[in-house]
Amino acid sequence: MKTLYLIGMGPGGPEYLTIQAIETLKRTDVFFMLEKEGRGKEELLQMRRDILTHYLGDTGYRVVIATSPARRMEADGYKEGVKVWHDEKRTLFERLVRDELEDGQSGALLLWGDPAIYDQTLSLVADVAAASQGTLVFEIIPGITSVQMLTARHKIPMNRVGESITITTGRHAETCDPTEIDNAIVMLDYNASFQRFKDQNMDVYWAGYLGCPDEVLISGPVDEVTDELLRTKQAVRDRKGWLMDIYLLRRRQDGNG
Ligand SMILES: C[S@@+](CC[C@H](N)C(=O)[O-])C[C@H]1O[C@@H](n2cnc3c(N)ncnc32)[C@H](O)[C@@H]1O
Repeated sequence: MKTLYLIGMGPGGPEYLTIQAIETLKRTDVFFMLEKEGRGKEELLQMRRDILTHYLGDTGYRVVIATSPARRMEADGYKEGVKVWHDEKRTLFERLVRDELEDGQSGALLLWGDPAIYDQTLSLVADVAAASQGTLVFEIIPGITSVQMLTARHKIPMNRVGESITITTGRHAETCDPTEIDNAIVMLDYNASFQRFKDQNMDVYWAGYLGCPDEVLISGPVDEVTDELLRTKQAVRDRKGWLMDIYLLRRRQDGNG
């Protein structure tokens, strides 16, 4: 039997792994490092290498690097694009487990943040394990998600008293009715959708590259900080070639928020 660990690596630097994650690294034979082609690929791979070097040194394990398939935007619509993309990823996981792990060995994927939020790897690996006729088992090692890091860095609670919190995507923030949102964390936003929440009496708590050396935080009323946010996003993207950002939108309940 082969084992695949899906390890939540936290939002970036080695200090955000849990002790369970570190203990799991120590029993892993092969680390699979998957990144999409494009700007930022090398830096994102290097962060994973740094975690391994930090906790394991440079020897005693094997690293297999593979290109992660990207979702093709030109495919027939969003759903079809996602289906094709997931099929390609399942095929890749099957191949890595079949060709790179021997019976009795364990492999691991270091997954950004926590594996259970906005990461399809868990479901795809579950499919591969289900089809493996008992030859592959997998385990989830939870991680600190960027959601927790965002609120920790801004020193704010995720919700005010008795309030619910929505965690959603840029895609949703781009199309929803802004009046429906009172307290929401937005991830995977490629179009700066916070701009739609102007004139809504809302604050935004934004962060880029949480837990990484280039971490940047901006907060304030949406009406006042939108221009600064747009300028900052453009500047860091130009400088580094990639950006991972997240933000919380919160409707003020009184004059002070
Ligand atoms: C594919 S999702 C993965 C989320 C991940 N599973 C987690 O727990 O944070 C990627 C999105 O997570 C957010 N994100 C993840 N890591 C981040 C970081 N270090 N700084 C800012 N945002 C981050 C961004 O919204 C990004 O678009």
